[in-house]
Amino acid sequence: MTWWQRSVVYQIYPRSFMDSDGDGMGDLRGITAKLDYLHTLGVDVVWLCPVYPHGGVDGGYDITDYRGIAPEYGTLADWQELLAGLHTRGMKLVMDLVVNHTSDRHPWFLEARKGVGSPHRDYYLWEPGRDGGPPSNWGSHFGGSAWQLDPATGEYYLHLFAPEQPDLNWASPTVRREVYDLMRFWLDLGIDGFRMDTINMLSKAPGYPDTAPGSDYAYPLAEEHFLNGPELLTYLREMHAEVLSAYDVMTVGETPGVNPDQAAVLTDPQTGPLSMVFQFDHMALDKDTGSARPRWTTVPYSVPELKAVLGRWQTGLHGRGWNSLYLSNHDVPRMVSRYGDDGAYRVASAKLLATLLFTLQGTPYVYQGDELGVPNAKFTSIDDYRDVDTLNLYREEVTEGGRDPADILAMIHNKGRDNARTPMPWNAGPGAGFTTGTPWIPLNPTYADINAEAALADPDSVYWYYRDLIRLRRGHPAIVDGRYDDLRPTHDTLYAYLRTHAQEQLLVLLNFGGAVLDLDGVLEIPANAELLIGNYAAPGEVPSGTLQPWEARVYVTRTVEETGTPG
Ligand code: NOJ
Repeated sequence: MTWWQRSVVYQIYPRSFMDSDGDGMGDLRGITAKLDYLHTLGVDVVWLCPVYPHGGVDGGYDITDYRGIAPEYGTLADWQELLAGLHTRGMKLVMDLVVNHTSDRHPWFLEARKGVGSPHRDYYLWEPGRDGGPPSNWGSHFGGSAWQLDPATGEYYLHLFAPEQPDLNWASPTVRREVYDLMRFWLDLGIDGFRMDTINMLSKAPGYPDTAPGSDYAYPLAEEHFLNGPELLTYLREMHAEVLSAYDVMTVGETPGVNPDQAAVLTDPQTGPLSMVFQFDHMALDKDTGSARPRWTTVPYSVPELKAVLGRWQTGLHGRGWNSLYLSNHDVPRMVSRYGDDGAYRVASAKLLATLLFTLQGTPYVYQGDELGVPNAKFTSIDDYRDVDTLNLYREEVTEGGRDPADILAMIHNKGRDNARTPMPWNAGPGAGFTTGTPWIPLNPTYADINAEAALADPDSVYWYYRDLIRLRRGHPAIVDGRYDDLRPTHDTLYAYLRTHAQEQLLVLLNFGGAVLDLDGVLEIPANAELLIGNYAAPGEVPSGTLQPWEARVYVTRTVEETGTPG
């Protein structure tokens, strides 16, 4: 086992974590001031979303300088202090690597757009138009065509995200060399790895073929033409050989649309270029796939489907690759609102979801605030939102499309990215203890009750349960390395699985839902099972054969030889 297979990662969205200078934006010194909070929680690695100078369009994912720190976050010296603070505490730092695209204000792009003869022209992807329009019907992730006309040259450039985020041309060896150099810059400063933004979009289908429309939208997402493209593995293997192989680091690739077999190739312990990938199958379970905008829709997810998806990844990568485990991040809703019950059972369901996250095989990722059970922030006015994706949706549907604002706000309440981006609630005081100024985005209205100070003072809080789960994980090789077996794959609300390792077997019981579940006739808890952790019963207790709403239990059932398979 490597260090990153035993680690728990904590994801920080820097502008919303902690503001040290009262400008309303989180910053590096703010993060450094909170390292003991993270250390007490027990996480091993911090993944820092982008802190580089940027164009201000996509929360830092539109970089203008790969080797700098944005002034609102501080200086390189502040960053070094953060790194040292982490390392002193035995923690590690993973930086975001955003190299599918740059900002349109990056010097490379400013040079490239000077003319077709610019030496930087082929750093990006340019094409002539077709029939007076864009070169193909590809849509951008944030709405509209993925092609932007450059009036000076009459050519279009590709941007899979906002027009201000032109895609880099990975077919160019010069571009690849530039990227490898900037990676070495950070690695030589002592970082411990990279989270690689949309890394499986680097290789586009030659000729940019049209995609089948599939909906009323003129510009559909042409995923089959840019996800896992023909040269992807070549590029990533080269990156590994040229750069990563020289350092003891972890990498996690963001790879939408990847399946377990592809992920096994990417993360093969001997030949894989990456340590692990973020897959998205479980993020699709509550989408209405038949609708024009599936990503913005919400339908109840089915627990058997959740089990099927997670199970496919657990067994698909066991012994072949490595899973990352996550239920939320800065791009998706809060996990307790999405998969749990953020009303009457907020605390219980947040703990149940954490039990799932920490007892599967893979490296768990905690997104800031989830350890407090922070729910979605449902702002009532579009003026309170900041995310480009959210604002584009509202503009297209309401301002231009004439739809009822209430319908679109309902979509945003469930699926908007700003749900996860409201400031970290540190206490119930002004600015939630996040800032002494005006926060860049309004606070989640729940901060008076749901905040870190309250959680630290309450022994039954979600925070301490996370701490206990992280400790438990450390002490049980079956969690990190054991085989996974789903005991009741088709049951509507019970998620029950075994984690089996040479010397021990764990049994995890999760009651997904607000109804009491009598296990009689469903599953028998072995007589020798010892409770290790639970969100209702305390360790060592002998709880009944009935699961309470959103109850979670982890048992150890002694050695494999003694127990066999319960139930
Ligand atoms: C994925 C990032 O997580 C998201 O925040 C960003 O908008 C896109 N990639 C584009 O960089």
